[in-house]
Parts: sequence; C-alpha cells; structure tokens
Amino acid sequence: MSLFPLDFPVLQTDRLLLTEITTAYSDDIYHLFNDQRITQYYPVMYLEKPEDANLVVSMLEKKYEEGLMVRWGITLHGTDKLIGIIGFNDIYPGHKAKISYLLSPDYWGMGLMTEAVQAILKYGFEILGLNRIEALVIIGNEQSVKLLLRCGFGYEALLEDFLFTDGCHYDMKLYARLSE
Ligand SMILES: CC(C)(COP(=O)(O)OP(=O)(O)OC[C@H]1O[C@@H](n2cnc3c(N)ncnc32)[C@H](O)[C@@H]1OP(=O)(O)O)[C@@H](O)C(=O)NCCC(=O)NCCS
Repeated sequence: MSLFPLDFPVLQTDRLLLTEITTAYSDDIYHLFNDQRITQYYPVMYLEKPEDANLVVSMLEKKYEEGLMVRWGITLHGTDKLIGIIGFNDIYPGHKAKISYLLSPDYWGMGLMTEAVQAILKYGFEILGLNRIEALVIIGNEQSVKLLLRCGFGYEALLEDFLFTDGCHYDMKLYARLSE
C-alpha cells in the first residue's frame, strides 16, 4: 500500500494552491527545467525538449504511487499556470525525508516559496509523521539558504563532491529541521 492517499493531497496557503502535477502543465514544466537560472542549482533535471516534460509527469505519478516521492505543482489562486514545484523525496515514513523546491524566476522575491515550504513542512510533520526534514543545497545558492533559515532549518554539514551529475561534482550543504 502506498504511503499517500489515492486522492492527491491538495494544499492551500494565502496566495497559493499546491496541486497535483499533470500533463496539463507540461509546457510550464518544460520552461522551468529549461531555465538555467533554475537548473544551475537544480542540475539533476535539465530538459532539452518540450516532449520530455511528459516523461517527468509519468515519473512523478509512478513515484507517488510507490510512496517514494511527492511533488506539488505551485499555482497562484485563480490561475492555471504552474509557477514552481515543491515536494519530498527519500521518504522514510515516521522518520525523515528530503525537501526540494524550485520557483520560476518571474516570481522570486515575493515570499511565495516561504509560504509553500511552510505548508508542506506542516504536511510532512503532521500528516506523514516525519520527525526530521533535510535539505541539500549546492554551494553558492544563497537564496535557497536564506529560505531554509527563514523556515527554521539549521546548518549541519558540508558534503564534499556529494552530487555527481553530467560529469560534474558538486559540494553541497546539509540543512535540517526537526519536528517541534
Ligand atoms: C530557492 C528559491 C525558491 C528561493 O526563491 P525566493 O523568491 O528567494 O524565496 P521566497 O519566494 O520565499 O521569497 C523570499 C524573498 O521575498 C521577500 N518577500 C517579499 N514579499 C514577501 C512576503 N509577502 N512574505 C515573505 N517574504 C517576502 C523576502 O524578503 C525574501 O527576499 P530576500 O531573499 O531578498 O530577503 C529560488 O531562488 C529558486 O527557485 N532557485 C532555483 C532552484 C533552486 O535553487 N532550488 C533549491 C535547490 S536546494
């Protein structure tokens, strides 16, 4: 049985609807994962072709069904444009998970991701029963570090050459927040 309900757990904040990611958003997904301002710090998923976005949606659906990952699409209330993605992976029910997020640069600096992170932290601690939520940040991603500190995460460790993708090694910093 999956960790997650059959009906996708839609979440709401003051300004955002966090919703299921479907192929209706493929075009928006392609633009997010084809934007170097995003992929320089999120390098595991660079999309070269618009068609590749459908593969991302299928992969997310499969991992959700298997209870391995949950990704919410971020939309502003009353709109149908996917402006970002947020979620958990490496989920150990009742123990810990990793948080991951990205937002279209058009919407940076408005506090929207802070709102989204706070909403899924609540879901992670209260509904998934997590005790520890971790975040891995590539060195130099100061916007992400500020976001994590604002949301109550603490710095724990430097992980040298921790990520290897497309022939490059990346140093990363580990941050974590525990359930209160
Ligand atoms: C990481 C990322 C989501 C952060 O985006 P962000 O816009 O800085 O974060 P928020 O949406 O929470 O906005 C916070 C900023 O809005 C400001 N802000 C404006 N109005 C606000 C409001 N109503 N409420 C809260 N903050 C507000 C804050 O002061 C803050 O600005 P500052 O960083 O200059 O202090 C974004 O940089 C991104 O998508 N990067 C590429 C992908 C990535 O790095 N992913 C993470 C991998 S670890």
